[in-house]
Amino acid sequence: MVCLGNICRSPLAEGILNSLVNPEEVEVDSAGTGGYHIGNPPDIRSIEVARRYGIDISAQRCRKIRREDFDVFDHILVMDRSNLASVIALAPNASARSKIRLLLEGAGLDSEEVPDPYYGEADGFEHVYQMISKGCLMIRETLITNPS
Ligand code: 4NP
Repeated sequence: MVCLGNICRSPLAEGILNSLVNPEEVEVDSAGTGGYHIGNPPDIRSIEVARRYGIDISAQRCRKIRREDFDVFDHILVMDRSNLASVIALAPNASARSKIRLLLEGAGLDSEEVPDPYYGEADGFEHVYQMISKGCLMIRETLITNPS
């Protein structure tokens, strides 16, 4: 799960997808394309919205995406097109590029992008929580339950 800061959206995506899968079968992680908050916990607004839905993301720590991620993970799911372009630019080869997609691609929502809530109001976090939740449910049904 990849966003810009790895403190708002992708930590939520990591926590939500983790809550939907068997952790012995599926490894979920998150990272940012920017390096502004490395080592920090998620934004308190993300921690709080997740907590309202029974998910604890407070132990996560921010890191930046690295090339090895393309070897370790089967799918690289990105929150918006700006970060999609950044991740594609990092991909070392066509096989790595084929793993990258928008989390909300094909989710049937009005937008395929999860908007950046960082500079907005707290209700923006509820909004992105709902979007990410729908994306994660779709990912579980498509990529995890029926891997191809
Ligand atoms: P995120 O939100 O990409 O969802 O983690 C952001 C967090 C921090 C910044 C930008 C976006 N920032 O510029 O510090």
